[in-house]
Amino acid sequence: MLVEVIHALQVKENQTYVDATFGFGGHSKEIMKKGGKVIGFDHDRTVIEQNTVTFEKEISAGKLTLIHDSFEHLADHLQEKVAGILFDFGVNSQQIDDASRGFSFQHEGPLDMRMDDRLSVKAQDLIAALGRKELANLFFHYAQESFGRKIADAIVDARKLSPITTTRQLTEIIHNALERDRVRGIDSATKVFMALRIAVNDELRTIERTLPTSLDCLAEGGHIVTIAFHEGEDRIVKNVMKDWEIEKRGFNVFKKPLTPTNQEMYKNPRARSAKLRAFVKNQYKGRI
Ligand SMILES: C[S@@+](CC[C@H](N)C(=O)[O-])C[C@H]1O[C@@H](n2cnc3c(N)ncnc32)[C@H](O)[C@@H]1O
Repeated sequence: MLVEVIHALQVKENQTYVDATFGFGGHSKEIMKKGGKVIGFDHDRTVIEQNTVTFEKEISAGKLTLIHDSFEHLADHLQEKVAGILFDFGVNSQQIDDASRGFSFQHEGPLDMRMDDRLSVKAQDLIAALGRKELANLFFHYAQESFGRKIADAIVDARKLSPITTTRQLTEIIHNALERDRVRGIDSATKVFMALRIAVNDELRTIERTLPTSLDCLAEGGHIVTIAFHEGEDRIVKNVMKDWEIEKRGFNVFKKPLTPTNQEMYKNPRARSAKLRAFVKNQYKGRI
């Protein structure tokens, strides 16, 4: 949703924008093309290391600053208020495709799932330590997995025999547990993997903690733009932006969230559940 993001941010020359989830810099590149300066955050060490090389020119020209930290701490790094903040929540495609990170049930790897390697708890630690009820609750709350109890039972039984430390082991346990209930269309391991990733990286609570500070970091008339792929993420953003509107701190730019075009979904099926929201701080009411 590149075009929509850039439009919603209303990028202006020589203004500074925070890309809170830099990834591989797709959005930041466009902001810089329009003359904006970018402060990019990512808590994944690999992302920052690779992009320090890729964007060497932009960094030396003072157009881009890369910060290896969680966006939760963005206020600590900013010297002045910024013209816009973009959050494109979730994981990047390289994280999913790299088997050694353990995000995908399609690749064999360690059950890790930490985006930030400074975090101490991996997915395998949750699988080893949580009780049946806690596992089932986690699968339900973070991914609406309705077979959570059955999967939790299977995990607890399996770990009595040997520790569950790889993506393949967990996938097989889920497949065996749900053989007869398998839902057509998605792999039955999808939701459990998503729930574990959200828990390991504390994704939803981090968004809840960050949005209030991000509005304080924004200049008058500045925009906060969010892209959420997960219903829970979008619900948090929606409620926070609604409250801001009630408190008269600005207004929602779009009546309803924007969603990808059919063409974009065709090109990038992972984008199909994306929802884009935008909030403008303290300005007269008028929608784009
Ligand atoms: C969906 S990707 C962003 C893609 C990016 N917009 C692009 O155009 O390439 C999300 C990125 O945000 C990072 N991320 C997720 N949560 C974060 C957090 N709390 N703080 C900093 N970065 C985070 C991930 O490591 C990942 O690289």
